Amino acid sequence: MLSLVEDHYDTMKTISPPLVKSHLIAWMSSLPPLFACAALTLNIPSSVAGDYPAYPAFDEEMRSYKATEPTGAIASLHQQMDSGGARLTHDTTHGYLTSLLRELNVPVSSQLLVASKTSPNKALISPKNPRALYFNDQVSVAYVPSAELIEVAAADPRLGVVLYTLAQKPAERPRLVRDDRCLECHASAKTLNVPGILVRSFLTKDDGEVELLSGLLVDHRTPLADRWGGYYVTGQHGRQTHRGNLFGTQAIARHEKDPSCNANVTHLAPLLDVGKYPSAGSDIVALLTHEHQAHAQNLLTRIHYDSQAALRDGGSLRPAYPAIEAALRYMLFVDEIPLTAPVQGTSDFAAEFLKSGLSDSRKRSLRQFNLKTRLFEHPCSYMIYSTSFEALPQEARRHFYRRLWDILNGEDRSPEFAKLGAESRSAIREILIATKKNLPAYWRL
Ligand code: HEC
Repeated sequence: MLSLVEDHYDTMKTISPPLVKSHLIAWMSSLPPLFACAALTLNIPSSVAGDYPAYPAFDEEMRSYKATEPTGAIASLHQQMDSGGARLTHDTTHGYLTSLLRELNVPVSSQLLVASKTSPNKALISPKNPRALYFNDQVSVAYVPSAELIEVAAADPRLGVVLYTLAQKPAERPRLVRDDRCLECHASAKTLNVPGILVRSFLTKDDGEVELLSGLLVDHRTPLADRWGGYYVTGQHGRQTHRGNLFGTQAIARHEKDPSCNANVTHLAPLLDVGKYPSAGSDIVALLTHEHQAHAQNLLTRIHYDSQAALRDGGSLRPAYPAIEAALRYMLFVDEIPLTAPVQGTSDFAAEFLKSGLSDSRKRSLRQFNLKTRLFEHPCSYMIYSTSFEALPQEARRHFYRRLWDILNGEDRSPEFAKLGAESRSAIREILIATKKNLPAYWRL
């Protein structure tokens, strides 16, 4: 298996930009001209990250990242396994997957299917054998049928995301093994230069190979029409179009003529053998949630590193303000792309996601979906409850809360937050006061 991983790294390293380019052009020229244009316009990887400062590279922090023992969900799972409180069991269908998801409290209903070869298990991934992703607020698990490794990305409250693999071969004492080599992609400009989560949309060929230069970063600011290249998408979304369920030049060309040809798919059975997976779909609500969360996670990690560096070097938090402002803007969904038709998923994801969090006495929750005009009913990210937020340096959290208070109370009148309606502001404030621990005392006066 190691050789697969090695292979993967080598391929990624040895693709020189000119080669990729000529390959892309060759592929594009086989497409109808209209699509070639569309694809070229897609080639602006910074379109969603453009409003943020250029974050410095992570090199300096990398040494301490590598030298630090992780905490977080995987570390506690290992502790529980050592004390006999948890056990990973192997089954012949999915190896350790089912048991791992159960022990980590990751719902099977969160399943997303990705057919693009963006993984160390890439040799096995294709539209007929996609990679399945499962997630909760802290952990993502990636599973490819018949692969020798399960991949895991876990948010460490101090380090950012830590990557692990779990061998699928039955073992006496199964263990997740940390692999910092994954950072080659998982700590790059695409993750704000901190160890983070990636979500991309690629033009994807029949065999799952991607056109590297077509890659877009995806979060809640990406137009739906550009999302989900390389992904399967199941659910209803009316006349909104997207790039999911499209593999190969013919399918993509067909989509150019008829943008609804891949839309509102509720069953994948005609396209692939879903029996290989614990769930049958790639739920559109789970997709929308996952891509919101990925960038929120990366922003929180960025605040963590920036504020730590600022406080260490000069004592003033000021250098971390841009990251905090970016996170506020993002976590309040200021630039969210509105939904133009109702969205409905195909799994129990939405119901289970709501149940897993706190509500106020009026049953309002930051995990309540809207799905008519926007993702959430109350536009403030549930990631404010995450361990990554709670573990921010105290000064950074204090500043974040002060700014959030000013915005929610209308004391901040900057045009940036003007879109946030008065009703939303007071609902968010009331929900937080009822459900959020560690709020500064002035919130409750
Ligand atoms: C060549 C780049 C690359 C390398 C190396 C890489 N990944 Fe990834 N990984 C990606 C991309 C790109 C995605 C997003 C999938 C997509 O949207 O197409 C991803 C997604 C994931 C996810 C899903 C996380 C989420 O929530 O989106 C997990 C888990 C993961 N990778 C684990 C790993 C592990 C573990 C390793 C190392 C053993 C690794 N990756 C190495 C590119 C890479």
